[in-house]
Amino acid sequence: MHEKPLVLDRIDAATQVVRQWKQSGRRVSLVPTMGALHEGHLSLVRQSAAQAECTVVTIFVNPTQFGPQEDYQKYPRQLERDLELLASCDLQLVVAPSADQLYRPGHSTFVEPPAVARPWEGACRPGHFRGVATIVLKLLQIVPADSLLLGQKDYQQYRVVQDMVADLNVPVEVRACPTVRDPDGLALSSRNAYLSGTERLRALGLVRALRTACREYSQGQRAPQLLEESLRRVLGEHEVHQIDYAVVVDGHTLEVPIRASDGCVALVAARVGQTRLIDNMRLVEGT
Ligand code: PAF
Repeated sequence: MHEKPLVLDRIDAATQVVRQWKQSGRRVSLVPTMGALHEGHLSLVRQSAAQAECTVVTIFVNPTQFGPQEDYQKYPRQLERDLELLASCDLQLVVAPSADQLYRPGHSTFVEPPAVARPWEGACRPGHFRGVATIVLKLLQIVPADSLLLGQKDYQQYRVVQDMVADLNVPVEVRACPTVRDPDGLALSSRNAYLSGTERLRALGLVRALRTACREYSQGQRAPQLLEESLRRVLGEHEVHQIDYAVVVDGHTLEVPIRASDGCVALVAARVGQTRLIDNMRLVEGT
């Protein structure tokens, strides 16, 4: 059984605690979340605990990364349940601040996200990565961590944050941790809660499409266009027709052409009913 983490809702108190840890030479790792925690988040916390003495989880539904037509209002907020789930993990601090501490009245400063933010999610969700880059930088100001752990499920977000901290000289190591999936393969996401039973079955089209592309790639297929045709075919077989993108791109630039050194990644975003889902897989030789 682990000791219960300290839970703070004041950001100044959180900064004070983290500074003390750092002054005493302890390594601090940050897992930023928007709450509605699931096993994917918990696996990030466990990986954080394995590499740092002090793990901090932030829980904050960030308004600036939601578009006007998106689900900011209905995004699940369940702090008590989140704290119960975190009780099974080894972590030292949970910070769950109110929105007014992060966005004071008249707040008008934003981070212009790096180039890797432009395609795919960036094109489908204008302003999304500006909101993400801004809040992640703010969280790192509050919790000056040595490392920051993000899920690979939001692969483009990971690349955006990686380039943002490099460009802005933020001394933090950004790590992506493997996507956690349900036994049938569906990538865990807080938004899966919106899916009906039949929609959930259709949603399996995303992981099956990605696995098909992985298999074809490992069998030698290298033409992004043909891999993309397979992604779309399998999505169609699962009646997933509202596809925002289904692409095979360079794992670093997220563009075509693919530079062999960086490998490539298949990215998919599609709507199943009213729910927009994203998933991705790295395409690796000979797997
Ligand atoms: O991935 C998320 O949950 C959010 O985008 C993040 C990184 C916590 C920023 O609000």
